[in-house]
Amino acid sequence: MKKYIVPAGFLFILFFICGHALAKGDIALPKPPSKAGMDIAEALQKRMSVREFSVKKVSVEDLSFILWAAMGQNRPDGKQTIPYAMGYQYLKLYVASADRVFRYIPEKHILKPVSDKNEMKNLGKQAYIAAGTYILIITADKEKIPNGVNEYAYTTAGCLAQNVYLMCAAKGLGTTLAAYMNTPGVVKALSLTDKEFPLYIMPIGAIK
Ligand SMILES: Cc1cc2nc3c(=O)[nH]c(=O)nc-3n(C[C@H](O)[C@H](O)[C@H](O)COP(=O)(O)O)c2cc1C
Repeated sequence: MKKYIVPAGFLFILFFICGHALAKGDIALPKPPSKAGMDIAEALQKRMSVREFSVKKVSVEDLSFILWAAMGQNRPDGKQTIPYAMGYQYLKLYVASADRVFRYIPEKHILKPVSDKNEMKNLGKQAYIAAGTYILIITADKEKIPNGVNEYAYTTAGCLAQNVYLMCAAKGLGTTLAAYMNTPGVVKALSLTDKEFPLYIMPIGAIK
């Protein structure tokens, strides 16, 4: 009898991890990192804006590192690598690639599909933005910003952006924080409602 209890429990756990947690089209990212391989002081020395990308593609492993740095969950209570005014989690993060757009879900460290279109050329207003492998899009959920103070969202987005800069520096990759963007193009690509607004975009690419 005991013989059957163990496999049943194991199957339940497997179902929970593989079947229950992932919906159709979701992509599980490689495990979030414990080490990026570079000292924080060295990454700060190397932090810079990069606007020239090579054709070499950024791996999913490196994207996973960058997303986790950006706004990954870093504590069991659901809090993230970035600070939030009054603790309300009002930022959202999207990733555009050459064939899809996803939303990053920090609590599961997965990508959820938002669109199956290539939106790379519809997000920026500077040519280099579309030349990376991915474009991160940071948005804010109006209903979650405390007292409607939008500056809180921009401040937190700045923290997120610096995390991305540092992880890119550590991984030898390039990025730039860009406020200058095609706002109507971003709204359309992400199907944003009037309850959510774009803050910044950040291309991620291999350095030329
Ligand atoms: C709020 C903010 C908005 C920015 N917007 C853009 C932008 O739209 N396009 C761009 O190419 N760079 C943009 N930048 C990057 C700056 O131009 C860059 O940080 C600055 O030239 C200093 O260079 P560094 O980042 O290499 O130190 C922005 C930076 C900040 C902080």
